[in-house]
Parts: sequence; C-alpha cells; structure tokens
Amino acid sequence: MTSYRTSVSNVLVIGTGGAGLRAAIAAHRAGCEVTLIGKRLRKDAHTVLAAGGINAALGSVDPDDTWQWHYADTIRDGYYLNNPRMVEVMAQEAPAAVRELAECGCNFARTPDGRLDQRFFGAHRYRRTCYAGDYTGRAILYTLADKVAELGIEIHDYQYVTSLLVKDSVCFGALAFDIQSGERTVYLADTVILAAGGHTRLWRRSSSRRDENTGDGMYLALRAGCTLADMELVQFHPTGMTHPEEMAGTLVTEAVRGEGGRLYNAAGERFMEKYDAERLELSTRDRVALANYTEIIEGRQGPNGGVFLDISHRDKDFILKKLPRMYRQFMETQMLDISRKPMEVSPTAHYSMGGVVVHPETTETEIAGLYAAGEVTSGLHGANRLGGNSLVETVVFGRRAGEQAAAYSSRLNVQMRDKEVIRAANDDLSSMIRDGGEMARPLQRAVRNIMWECCGVVRSQERMEMGLVRLGELREASAQVDVRPSSEGWQDLAVAYDLRGALDAAEATLRSAIERRESRGAHQRYDYPDLDPAQEVNYRVRIVAGGEMEVSSALVTQIPDDLRVYVEDDPQLLFKGRLLE
Ligand code: FUM
Repeated sequence: MTSYRTSVSNVLVIGTGGAGLRAAIAAHRAGCEVTLIGKRLRKDAHTVLAAGGINAALGSVDPDDTWQWHYADTIRDGYYLNNPRMVEVMAQEAPAAVRELAECGCNFARTPDGRLDQRFFGAHRYRRTCYAGDYTGRAILYTLADKVAELGIEIHDYQYVTSLLVKDSVCFGALAFDIQSGERTVYLADTVILAAGGHTRLWRRSSSRRDENTGDGMYLALRAGCTLADMELVQFHPTGMTHPEEMAGTLVTEAVRGEGGRLYNAAGERFMEKYDAERLELSTRDRVALANYTEIIEGRQGPNGGVFLDISHRDKDFILKKLPRMYRQFMETQMLDISRKPMEVSPTAHYSMGGVVVHPETTETEIAGLYAAGEVTSGLHGANRLGGNSLVETVVFGRRAGEQAAAYSSRLNVQMRDKEVIRAANDDLSSMIRDGGEMARPLQRAVRNIMWECCGVVRSQERMEMGLVRLGELREASAQVDVRPSSEGWQDLAVAYDLRGALDAAEATLRSAIERRESRGAHQRYDYPDLDPAQEVNYRVRIVAGGEMEVSSALVTQIPDDLRVYVEDDPQLLFKGRLLE
C-alpha cells in the first residue's frame, strides 16, 4: 500500500473559500483544533471572484428595510422552492455577519457619514447590498483569511480530497493528495465540514475558472451517502463576457446594472422593457438571463454573439470608484473603455442553487459528523438566487457549520476510525494512476459541451435525454483515462478526479432536470413553458438524487404564516405565469 502521512484534528474543513474560512474561525473559537484544507493556494478560492456585494437588511440608506423584507424577496424570487427556515436564518443573521466583517477590517464602501453603504441589486425591494467596489468577494475572503492566520489555524494548500472517510454512516475524515508533491494525507477528524463549492464549471460558458467548481464537492458527498437536491437549478448570470474566447463567460457584475447600466440589443432597443417593464435591468436574474438569451437566439445579437450592456452615461470617475475591476477587466482583455463604449455580454453558468441536503439549522448532512456550507449545499436559494445572497450564505452558514461541528466534536466519547475504509480510499487513489488511451482534458471539454447544448438556459426532454446518452459514452471513455504524475505532475491526477466528479454531478443535474416538468426560475423548458399549476396550489416539490442516480421528489417546507404576509404583501410582484408570453 502506498504510504501516507496522518493528520489529526477535531474539525477538518474542506474548502478555503468564504464558507470554509468562516466555519474554521467558528470551530476554533469554540475551542476545537481545526485543520483547513483547500485545493488552490489560500486567498485564491472561488470567493475571490464574487464581485458586486453581500446582502443584509441594515437599512443604512433605505431605513424601511427589515430582515422580513429580505426574507420575502428571497422566497418570492426563489419561486417558493427555498427552504423557508434557511432563508429566515440567513435574513435574520445577515446584519450581524456583515457588521462583524466590517469590524474585522473588511473595507466596505461607506456613506459620507460613515455608515455601510448599500446599492441596488436585481429584484431587491430596497438597497441592501453592501459592497467593496466590485471586488466584494475578494475583500471578504482576504478579511477572513487574515483572521484565520491571526488565530493560528492550520491551513494546508493544494490538497485534493479524493474520498471522505465514512464507516456505518459516520464520517471520520478524508483522504487527500498534494497537487504539487503527490504526498498523501489521511486527515482524521471528529467531524468534517464540506465547503467545496458548486458545479458550474461543467458548462461551456461559466463564470468559474479552470479547475474550480467542477462538482467535486457534490461527488464526495454523494459517494459518502448524502442526497443531492435541486441539481437542475443552475443559475445563468445574464452578463458574462463574450470574448476573447479565453475570457468568454467571465463575470460582468450585476453591480453594473445596480449602478445604472442598461441593456440594448443590436437594433439599439432597450429590450428589458418587453420582459419586465417595471424592474427593467434590475429584474430577477433568471428573467434578465432569459431575456438576453432570447434576444440572442432570435438574431438581435452583436458581432460576438451577445447583447450590449452600457454604463457609458456615467462619468469615468464614478465608474472607476464603483466598478474599478470591470473597468480594468475590459481594458486589459479587449482594450475597451467602458466609460465610452458598451460591453458585449451573454449568459454564463454562474451558481449552483442545488447541492447537498443539509439541516436548515445545523447544516448537518445525512451522514453523522459531516456538515456542509456554502455553494455545495442546497435549500437557501430555491429556483432563482438573488444576487448578493451567496456571500452572505457563506458567512452565516459557515459560522453555523463551525459551531455545530465543534459541538458535535465535544459530545463524542469515542472517535470513529476504520483501517479498512482508509485502505479502500488509498487503493482507489492508487487505481486512478494508470496508462490509458484517453486524456481527461478533452473529456472534460466534452462534458462542458454536453451541459451547454443539452442542459443550458432553455432545455427540452429530447436534448436532455440525448445529453444522458452522450454522458454515458464519456463515462465509459473515462475508465481509460491516462494519468501519469511522474511525467505530467500531480495536476494530471487532480484533473482525472475532477472528471470523475463532473460525470456524477452532470448526471444528477440532467436526471433532475428531466424530472422537473415545468419552467420555474432558472429551470426553463421549451416543452413545459409554464409553472406546473399543481405546484402552485397546494404543494411544491424539490427533486432529489441519491448515489445510484435514482431521482425522486420531496415536498418543500411551508412558509410560516407570520412571514407569509410579507411574501404576499405586494401582489404585483407575485409571479403568476410563464416568463415569456
Ligand atoms: O454580479 C455579481 O456581482 C454577482 C453577485 C452574486 O452572484 O451574488
């Protein structure tokens, strides 16, 4: 058996993005020994790309805002598929979480009298999105990472987790290898927190970078015995870059629209007037994405296949202050001055609203000792996530996961360890290193093409079934992937594992998407263009998938009456029919 080193702690956190860092801080503060591992270099987790802001009903600029309105907007624009208790927790705890970040030094923008400034984001009734220019995720990630360093929490970079260690439905650690040296480590822990991100890199156009959000977190959970839910609910951000090709899909933040940006088609029409005359560019993300998509496929696109996002009516100083990263991004990659000319944009896969099923209070999964937080989970966002709710999700549920995992650890009298489970995980890792006739990268590319063509912005039964067939062929080919770390480096092995995870995450998505026979939020179907009326009357379902890829339905929890009044307060905003008439 190939040797490995062993690391022992109370709490192992997998993932060094916002959720993982916040979880580690909470578990450390609760008195635990914590080990934090991530597959990228610290301070470079995907959170670094989050741009526009973080939501909290602080009422700094719109004093009428309260957490109940934040709750109502999130549920209504999630098309009622959200877990109401998770939404309540988020909305109630967001103000304290944001203030805490500010106290730790996060450089959020301030009003002239020193309060935290708040901008509009799509479909929010009030200005409630706190921000640091258009690099809010980076500001938050750095703040949390600096706190982790200050507290002396152990952090290991470049660790690729290949298996969670589970015996009799109890999780006791993970096996990982170092992407630079290949060294294997068995991380033994009383409890594990999974904060490993989503799966939107599985679409050809994606706002994620190479080798991140490849569905590996979902794969690990599924193979550990967890259930995934809402996998079909993948958010397409309306505005990704269209070119150059290597930048295609890169996020153009919603903050551009929040600061007054307008969308036009190639004919110069401000087309959002047709799709949501009231909210225009600040409509819900699913509507704006579908509007952009429709303009494009109906032929009113620009030279690079996109529509135009224009902020040039704002002066350059304003743009440099509020949108400094966007200004540089277009200047550096297209030599385009956005204070003078519009940006060409099109939809891009941006956020996984589905993922691991967790308890809404504790973040516990169905496996004892295994907790999960952040984008790898399901439940908070329903069928359409409001911009700015993901960053707040990371800190609110990251903290809860850390505290709950610490409490679980302190209750244990006996730590589970199992040599056979470790041996099997280690053998699995060794078996992935082999000669073969296929390369992982082109197979990854093929997955991305399948998901874009067969499970994109608008879907149909026929195409999704075709996608499943093509995915099955890739699964067969993936058994022949050639992995040679000795000559190609250990990244070669990481890519092979990413492919393995991607195949499961993509299959769960396709099967769930076939099962949801309606159009709801981010899940749009040509063959079922309306909301399922049965689901509007007395029940709503979420689609869940287990390890054998069996798909079934589970009822969504009802909204409590004391909060329903907020959700139904404004009948104008209640969504009644199909998106496109
Ligand atoms: O457009 C954006 O800045 C994205 C924000 C979000 O997804 O929350």
